[in-house]
Amino acid sequence: MVILNNHIKQGTNRVAPHATSQGLEMEWQEYTIGSVRLLIGDCRKILPLLPPDSVQCCVTSPPYWGLRDYEHPEQLGSEESPQTYVDNLVEVFREVRRVLRPEGTLWLNIGDAYARNGGTGVCGPNAKVGNTRKLIQKRNCKVPDCWGLKDRDLLGMPWRVAFALQADGWILRSHITWVKKAAMPESVKNRPTRVTEDVFLFAKQPQYYYNNEAVREPSGANLRNFWVLGPEPNEAGHPAAFPKELVRRCILLGSRPGDVVLDPFSGSGTTGIVAVELQRSAILIELNAQYAEQSAERLRRGVQPSLLL
Ligand SMILES: C[S@@+](CC[C@H](N)C(=O)[O-])C[C@H]1O[C@@H](n2cnc3c(N)ncnc32)[C@H](O)[C@@H]1O
Repeated sequence: MVILNNHIKQGTNRVAPHATSQGLEMEWQEYTIGSVRLLIGDCRKILPLLPPDSVQCCVTSPPYWGLRDYEHPEQLGSEESPQTYVDNLVEVFREVRRVLRPEGTLWLNIGDAYARNGGTGVCGPNAKVGNTRKLIQKRNCKVPDCWGLKDRDLLGMPWRVAFALQADGWILRSHITWVKKAAMPESVKNRPTRVTEDVFLFAKQPQYYYNNEAVREPSGANLRNFWVLGPEPNEAGHPAAFPKELVRRCILLGSRPGDVVLDPFSGSGTTGIVAVELQRSAILIELNAQYAEQSAERLRRGVQPSLLL
């Protein structure tokens, strides 16, 4: 028997905001596909509509500062100043903390960038990286007047965000180094090629849910904070999709079957796909309507076999 619940609300939804100070009505679009709610809009506006203490685990990867253009005026990552980017992420994750259950966790994958003067390399707002769909080339590449940065300085952005979140109330519990088996080539001759990214584990409270039995080392030992992953077939149609195996680990460690998993920057919906595969529900938020449509389609393909009884 096949049970399909691919209910699509393509009209505009209106509700009184849950916790916003504006007291205004809010508009957004939403798809419901099986146990996944996909909300299309700016996560800074949608997150305040979610009830408090309602989500077990957030697994997400926000846009990296100055890297890709997601072609929307409300996109994060295109801020003129890297400090404004950090401030915006603190605001987003403050709302995530509010919606997390007391024993909930946040798993945050975030990338770095270089300050550069001129050139077209990997350098903040003018970065040209791999299969970037459209570069942010609306202003000249120049070193931001911030943090004492100099030409060619590595921003250290992941740790700056991590410290800002810590200062805002999060408990920083782990730093995981994700080693990419098939990293993007870099044409650099004056430093080692970068093949890693960072994943941070944050808790809302000192006691939190972490199932250390759910993912182990091949030897049976407790999982280490050094994950060698990929490559995976790119079925996502998104230039910055993270590997399903990375998401699988975070969800297994941070939630139980039946729990709700959140991704406020859902892109191609990888978090939702994996959540469904692991019998969790998901709330996904994505600004770019085209990616949202693609992920809805991807979710429908993924959800249907799992509902075959
Ligand atoms: C790094 S990608 C996430 C990719 C995702 N993890 C996946 O596997 O496909 C970041 C996403 O955040 C979206 N985004 C940017 N600003 C946003 C905002 N203010 N609210 C919600 N989504 C936003 C972008 O459109 C982009 O798809």
